[in-house]
Amino acid sequence: MIVIRTVNEIQLFARNEKENGKKTGFVPTMGALHKGHIMLVEQALKENDSVIVSIFVNPVQFNNPTDLVKYPRTLKSDLELLEKAGCHCVFHPEVEEMYPEPVTHFYDFGELDKVMEGKFRPGHFNGVATIVKKLLDIVIPHKAYFGQKDYQQLVIIKTMVKMEEMPVNIVSCPTIREADGLAMSSRNMRLNDKQRAEAPLIYKILKQASLWYDQMSINALIQKVETIINDNPEMQLEYFEISDSETLEPVRQKIRDKDVVACIAVYMGDVRLIDNIVFNY
Ligand code: PAF
Repeated sequence: MIVIRTVNEIQLFARNEKENGKKTGFVPTMGALHKGHIMLVEQALKENDSVIVSIFVNPVQFNNPTDLVKYPRTLKSDLELLEKAGCHCVFHPEVEEMYPEPVTHFYDFGELDKVMEGKFRPGHFNGVATIVKKLLDIVIPHKAYFGQKDYQQLVIIKTMVKMEEMPVNIVSCPTIREADGLAMSSRNMRLNDKQRAEAPLIYKILKQASLWYDQMSINALIQKVETIINDNPEMQLEYFEISDSETLEPVRQKIRDKDVVACIAVYMGDVRLIDNIVFNY
């Protein structure tokens, strides 16, 4: 596995792989890798001849400077995990390498980035779209892999790729969970023991919501979830929303067989966790 720090070198590497007839799979990450990331790498390895993983904590997608400072950085163990998984190349640039100039492009995603994460993290998705576009332009992979845990991010990246007419297949991979249901996330390592013990409630309540969806109005369901989360002393709900799985618009009337996504963001201390589940009626 080779580790590359500059844009020129990764472009050269990716171009060489292509010239040698290899299909390239690309997994963008911000490091602090866990089994969820490794599953993306494993899927990329199955579907491509060469796999590139980027590790870059993207400053422009953090609307909260403290969150950026506290974001876990575990390069040594990340590289060990990737080597073991069979990854071929890691791209790990400095901030100046990716942003020689300040960001000036602003995407218009309509309502997609105004709701849920977008509402509480202004500018976040412009930052995500900006870095993903840059990385895809540099690597020009055949396929790029993203986890469904960041459901809204996935919808926005697919939209950006369509808007920009980029020649890449976006592959969405299922959320990987701990044995107790907690969605794997780099942020989980910042939970203390008490918070970690309570955190599985997040997925439990999402599964419960998918059952309640058949039995009660959406407003009653939202209220019930809000009460249960806020009654837990370790948790503070930021939002819980039932949305159209494609447009992400809030849904208030149930439609038979139409997929909705229930999305949740919860603070546990200063650790912000998100999760989601897709279901229908
Ligand atoms: O999901 C993430 O880790 C990040 O948002 C991504 C897609 C790597 C962009 O920085």
